[in-house]
Amino acid sequence: MNVRYGRFVSFEGGEGAGKSTQVRLLATALREAGIRVTVTREPGGSPGAEDIRGLLVTGEPSRWEPVSEALLLYAARRDHWVRLIEPALKRGHWVISDRFADSTLVYQGVGRGVDRAWLDELHQLVLGDVAPDLTLLLDLPAEIGLARTLTRDQASATDETRFERMTLDFHQSLRRGFTGLAAGDPARIVTLDASGGVDEVAKAVLESIRTKLLKELPG
Ligand SMILES: Nc1ncnc2c1ncn2[C@@H]1O[C@H](COP(=O)(O)OP(=O)(O)OP(=O)(O)O)[C@@H](O)[C@H]1O
Ligand SMILES: [Mg+2]
Repeated sequence: MNVRYGRFVSFEGGEGAGKSTQVRLLATALREAGIRVTVTREPGGSPGAEDIRGLLVTGEPSRWEPVSEALLLYAARRDHWVRLIEPALKRGHWVISDRFADSTLVYQGVGRGVDRAWLDELHQLVLGDVAPDLTLLLDLPAEIGLARTLTRDQASATDETRFERMTLDFHQSLRRGFTGLAAGDPARIVTLDASGGVDEVAKAVLESIRTKLLKELPG
């Protein structure tokens, strides 16, 4: 195992659960506590991976068949890890990533039917035992998350809506997929109720950081 100095935290959850909002707030809180933080996201995070992101998150929902989609994600994830995340951790930064490998297990695995054992093998081949130190799962009914994204998309005129436009059944299966993953790995994945207000969720995020990673974080 590599020597790693920073901590690696990922946020997971369905569309509109509040991941990007909470990533920003946690980064601010940690910086105020004197911690050096690198904020990043998936798919993306490094220049090459951001190019691949464009292929994944725009266009028709049927644009990619599921295995190709998983391979694109892992090409991006390898580049992201090697060029951005691992170097930042080695410089002592905490890395906070808006999604990581759990999203592939859930979106391409549970949601689109790619075999779980095959995905685990792919991860092992591409990244070995790399995993976040802590994963915060923002849990929310799919309908509520999708409703939140609609307001946001209108405000920002984004075209990154390929997954949002998949069926409600698909999004409901994602929620079950994420809670199933969390149940299988309670040491790493903490499930937070994301239905409360932004400040309420942010408080729960900090509480988890304190409990799991940083008992001395000021309140
Ligand atoms: N706790 C909350 N209560 C109500 N609205 C929220 C809450 N958190 C975030 N929002 C709003 O909901 C929308 C989606 O939030 P955000 O972009 O953080 O979600 P996300 O999980 O990153 O979504 P995506 O999966 O699409 O990237 C934004 O308009 C945001 O301001
Ligand atoms: Mg987001």
